[in-house]
Amino acid sequence: MHGNKEILAVQNLSKVYDKEVLKLDKLSFQQGKIYGIIGPSGAGKSTFLRIANLLEAPTAGDIYFKGNIISMNGGTALAARREMTMVFQKPLLFRASAADNVAYGLKARNYPKDKIQERVETLLEKVGLKGFAGRNATTLSGGEAQRVALARAVAFEPSLLLLDEATANLDPSNVELIEQLIMDLNRETGMTFIMVTHNIFQAKRIAHEVVFLHEGRIVEMGETKQIFTTPQDPRTRDFVEGRMIC
Ligand SMILES: Nc1ncnc2c1ncn2[C@@H]1O[C@H](COP(=O)(O)OP(=O)(O)O)[C@@H](O)[C@H]1O
Ligand SMILES: [Mg+2]
Repeated sequence: MHGNKEILAVQNLSKVYDKEVLKLDKLSFQQGKIYGIIGPSGAGKSTFLRIANLLEAPTAGDIYFKGNIISMNGGTALAARREMTMVFQKPLLFRASAADNVAYGLKARNYPKDKIQERVETLLEKVGLKGFAGRNATTLSGGEAQRVALARAVAFEPSLLLLDEATANLDPSNVELIEQLIMDLNRETGMTFIMVTHNIFQAKRIAHEVVFLHEGRIVEMGETKQIFTTPQDPRTRDFVEGRMIC
């Protein structure tokens, strides 16, 4: 959209394992939006997200973060990595208290001690876990653990949060809590979210824009309402109407 600032973009991106699993001519994400990347299993969603997170190098192509081209081994990648983080399907927590888990990124970034404690308390309350500060992460339920992982991810106020099927293992009440949290954070802080999901309903509920990936390529991208009500490509229609197997 005109006037919006780009946070992440890729150009002529290709990833080849045994075969080419991702081929994106151009894909661009604007600051302050919630994006849903949908598509059947094997479409290349997770591969794209790992590349976007600069965890994995593309076989070819360019990645831009806030308008700067990223060189994987250089200072640009380091600076970009400091501004983004990823939440996975399975929460990766340390065998430590919920509070220590949330504090992790803040300590690494040398936040003052009193500020850390204050922020950890605020965040635990925000994810519905007030009173859980001292609980060891190993004793948390799946939903609680994922909420701690999310609190940890947003603690240092990244400008971009990448989510890979982050609610896929959770019960409906935890899914709702996390979706609400994403919408609140986006509205309150302008944080950008790129959310990979095979769950079209989740994309429909909370994404502003949707990218439909199929066999490593973008079939269609647009405003969520448009993608769901007037898809232009028959494959998009099949997918959003539940006729394509996930
Ligand atoms: N490390 C890897 N080595 C070889 N093939 C891979 C690897 N990671 C993913 N793939 C393949 O790339 C394709 C896309 O996978 P993935 O990005 O995980 O899809 P999605 O997340 O949309 O289900 C699949 O065919 C998958 O088997
Ligand atoms: Mg995946």
